[in-house]
Amino acid sequence: MNTRDQEIRIIDTDDVGSNHSGNPHIQDMIEARMSRRTVLSGTTAVAATGFFGGSLLASSGAQAGGLSGGEYCAGPVLGFAEVPASSADTLVVPEGYTAQIFAPWGTPLLPGAPAFAEDASNSAADQALQVGFNHDGMHYFPLPLFGNHRGLLVVNHEYTDANIIYSAAQGGTITPDDAGKEKVAKALAGHGVSVMAVSKKFDGSWELVKKDPRNRRITGTTPMAFSGPVSASHPMLQSSITAKPLGTLNNCAHGVTPWGTYLACEENWNGYFGTDDTTWVASRTPLEARYGVSAAGFGYNWHKAEPRFDLAQNRNELNHFGWVVEIDPYNPKSQPVKRTALGRIKHEGATCTESKGRVVVYSGDDENGDYLYKFVGNAPWRKLRLQGKSPLDHGTLYVAKFHADGSGEWLPLVHGVGALTMENGWADQADVLIRTRMAADALGATRLHRPEWVAVHPHTKDVFVTLTNGSGNNAPVNSGRDPNPYGHIVRFHDADNSDTTFSWDIFLLAGDPAYDANVPATQPVFGSPDGIWVDDSGLVWIQTDISNSSQNLASRGYDNIGNNAMLAANPDTGEVRRFLTGPRGCEITGVSMTPDQRTMFVNVQHPGESTTFWNNQFGAPTTANPSSVSSWPFGGRPRPATVVIRKLDGGKIGS
Ligand code: FEO
Ligand code: CA
Ligand code: CA
Ligand code: CA
Repeated sequence: MNTRDQEIRIIDTDDVGSNHSGNPHIQDMIEARMSRRTVLSGTTAVAATGFFGGSLLASSGAQAGGLSGGEYCAGPVLGFAEVPASSADTLVVPEGYTAQIFAPWGTPLLPGAPAFAEDASNSAADQALQVGFNHDGMHYFPLPLFGNHRGLLVVNHEYTDANIIYSAAQGGTITPDDAGKEKVAKALAGHGVSVMAVSKKFDGSWELVKKDPRNRRITGTTPMAFSGPVSASHPMLQSSITAKPLGTLNNCAHGVTPWGTYLACEENWNGYFGTDDTTWVASRTPLEARYGVSAAGFGYNWHKAEPRFDLAQNRNELNHFGWVVEIDPYNPKSQPVKRTALGRIKHEGATCTESKGRVVVYSGDDENGDYLYKFVGNAPWRKLRLQGKSPLDHGTLYVAKFHADGSGEWLPLVHGVGALTMENGWADQADVLIRTRMAADALGATRLHRPEWVAVHPHTKDVFVTLTNGSGNNAPVNSGRDPNPYGHIVRFHDADNSDTTFSWDIFLLAGDPAYDANVPATQPVFGSPDGIWVDDSGLVWIQTDISNSSQNLASRGYDNIGNNAMLAANPDTGEVRRFLTGPRGCEITGVSMTPDQRTMFVNVQHPGESTTFWNNQFGAPTTANPSSVSSWPFGGRPRPATVVIRKLDGGKIGS
């Protein structure tokens, strides 16, 4: 191991796993398959198309099903000029494209909302009427008749940053008093989801339709319903503070159901809870440990002002989180519903597709060493809805087990099946779902390096999963490409998306060939793939989320890669091009298009967040100096925002 490798071996704090099951790890299987690979020059087209590309490409073509060869054989087109890697504090799109800053944090959305206050003096009540913070997963729902020009843009707001959302006078610390309560309330109001009516103007730019009755904020205090095997009346869901479950938190990626609802997913919810009661640690349950719940949490300290988030005072509150939340964007009066049949994990996303008329939902559990899940409806979704049932309440949840030979199987998380019996201590299906991670441990699921988004190719139905990176802190330590600081994208297909077997391959290895010879030199350097989506033309869009403890740092092998970026890949050829680069300290996440593919929406999350590389030069951001790392987009306080991207000639994005 050279010095550089040793330096890269530093463990990211956001990368600490809680899976000590000893289940097999996919990295070991990848190493085994890579060592058998005959073509490994790193510079050839064969390497760029994936290690075992031929057989998978052939089989995915064969299952294209609904499309004739002629319709899809033209394939996707990478028609834009690549943008270079960038460390500048700006957003760059290819020549011939335009990017409009849209609905940044604090934009007035609901009636009575005040203007955004540049000094962050907006109150919690103000924030509840404004667009939330840290835009993440997103979908554009076209409205009838003029869907390319009018729609509902639904955006997740993953978390808040105390250095940026509070004023210098307030400071960033949560104190155990009314001032602390107000600050927690502002953070809660900055979380959740925004539903925004949007329309395209004659000049091609987009605007928020301020008076549309469908505009809505869902926050960390919005009342929530529960449905499926775990009901709100379950003993483990009884709060000692609130009469009913409230709020959704850490909404990372998302899903869109075939019936036109939005799924917001609860990812790093464990970080919000904490306690100063030292007796809690001694009583921490295996369930709490397995979900990474700790007395310190992620250091947000909400519990100091708000007992709802105090582990010792309100032990069951955390069981309200870790679910997929269904939201009907068209009905502002509808109550969001936590769909418990999809399991309780750190849901990155909930990517839906359809198979034999049934809904299929893929979801990664984004923690180092955790698993990939799939839910399959037990009847066609149209039939279930005609019977007044939710297709997300009636089906089977599976977890993925990969085999080293490139095959794999989906193991059912069903009470009474396999290891999940009464004799083994599993009370019922609700128990299996509240303890989803432990049930998957018991079945021998395959550990992964932080599974993030999942994308399903709309025509071939191939599935792409980003494994963002891993520090290799879970024993047994993996061989070869370990730690895995750059991540990779796994591609697999079920013969049918509802089947219980699949085959898998590595679609792309992320990274920089200067540090890792396995990465093709023909490929643009990028790291930590997170967002992924396949557009209707078949282009694979890849968005990166290099952690701010690694971004731009030579000691982490990230100096050539620059700021986070978005790339596009042709899945038929393996060609990749960098499409967009973001400002400093941000990640690029969330992508959606109008049906005509002529407008693309992309999110810039956490610009200006504390970033080791930039902190070393300019100082860490504070409430007194929030702009030390970035002043994107308007030259002042950094503000997460959507960007609306169009081609100046009005053409399709990417073409
Ligand atoms: Fe919120 Fe796993 O990214
Ligand atoms: Ca993500
Ligand atoms: Ca992130
Ligand atoms: Ca991420």
